[in-house]
Amino acid sequence: MNLRLRPQSVRRALRNLIDNAERYGGMVDASYGRENDHAFIRITDNGSGIPNADLEQVFEPYFRLEKSRSRETGGTGLGLSIARTIIRAHGGDISLANRAEGGLVATVMLPLETQSSNNERTMT
Ligand SMILES: Nc1ncnc2c1ncn2[C@@H]1O[C@H](COP(=O)(O)OP(=O)(O)OP(=O)(O)O)[C@@H](O)[C@H]1O
Ligand SMILES: [Mg+2]
Repeated sequence: MNLRLRPQSVRRALRNLIDNAERYGGMVDASYGRENDHAFIRITDNGSGIPNADLEQVFEPYFRLEKSRSRETGGTGLGLSIARTIIRAHGGDISLANRAEGGLVATVMLPLETQSSNNERTMT
């Protein structure tokens, strides 16, 4: 099983997620592994999380949560949108969820390729 990716793009996507965890969370924890035909990377923080109703909207360009928080921390609201575009271009996806213990977990899933499909030299 193989993971074919554009390292600079994927690095940028992960950096966005880690920046968010630091900015809006506090303690950041990252882990990764393999599940069936996917690799996953999980970034968790212990911040306030995101209201469930906004978990999809935060992926919209320029969408940011309450203004007070935004002024304080000053991002443009593009990070998640760009990160998801990059990961989806690799056939994967990013999902966000609130943790029972508090804080957010961002999960990046990337499809693994079998050796045979790798030999077909699929464009990535
Ligand atoms: N780990 C997190 N915990 C709590 N809220 C988050 C977290 N990550 C993102 N958010 C919320 O989602 C919004 C959108 O995030 P996104 O990364 O797209 O933009 P940004 O961080 O505001 O700016 P940029 O990434 O462009 O510098 C953030 O403004 C914040 O309100
Ligand atoms: Mg961001």
